[in-house]
Amino acid sequence: MREKRVVVLISGRGSNLSALIAAQIPVVAVLSNRIDAMGLSDAKAHGIVTQCVLPRDYPNRESYDGALRDCIDVYQPDVVLLAGFMRILSAEFVAYYQGRLLNIHPSLLPSYPGLDTHARALADGVKIHGCTVHFVTPTLDSGPIVVQAAVPVRVGDTAEILAERVLAAEHVIYPQAVTWLLQGKLSIHDPGGVVVPVGVDTLPQSVWMPDI
Ligand code: GRF
Repeated sequence: MREKRVVVLISGRGSNLSALIAAQIPVVAVLSNRIDAMGLSDAKAHGIVTQCVLPRDYPNRESYDGALRDCIDVYQPDVVLLAGFMRILSAEFVAYYQGRLLNIHPSLLPSYPGLDTHARALADGVKIHGCTVHFVTPTLDSGPIVVQAAVPVRVGDTAEILAERVLAAEHVIYPQAVTWLLQGKLSIHDPGGVVVPVGVDTLPQSVWMPDI
């Protein structure tokens, strides 16, 4: 059986990408919509191929997504990961990779989809916050949930401090979720799209990280 292959899409810092690489996830290529994405340098330092597909080179979302798909497919990935990829993807693109496209989101979905999750959580006075790895579906931040990690919100937290705490949890659960998917341990039950473990009944799909 051939080695598993993972393609990661990034737009910025790339700390989740670094965590995936450190966890020995078989990343064969990193693609970005931005030439200045900081994460590209870490990929290069690890000898991983990088490529930029720039929106300015395409007249509309459909042609951009088509070009991105063509680029991804050159690497014949088993799994495609969004890791801070700041673009809405078309329904066609998402459908094409259905079941092998994951995202990490910095909140306990379905709470706080979209942007500025940490500031919104603080403004609401929640006492528990966290992050979610989910399969990607056409509706933003709402696909079947694979795993979530919860962290405490502490007195005096700013959005930046809370973001840092959540990010540390992201770096634990994203490699874990990808490993399960590569091992064939996840399946999506319809209707409802609930992700359940296959062949094992003890995957820790919810994690409380009070000390991170
Ligand atoms: C993370 O907070 C992730 O949850 C969100 O975008 C951010 C990416 O951070 N989707 P990084 O580029 O992986 O450091």
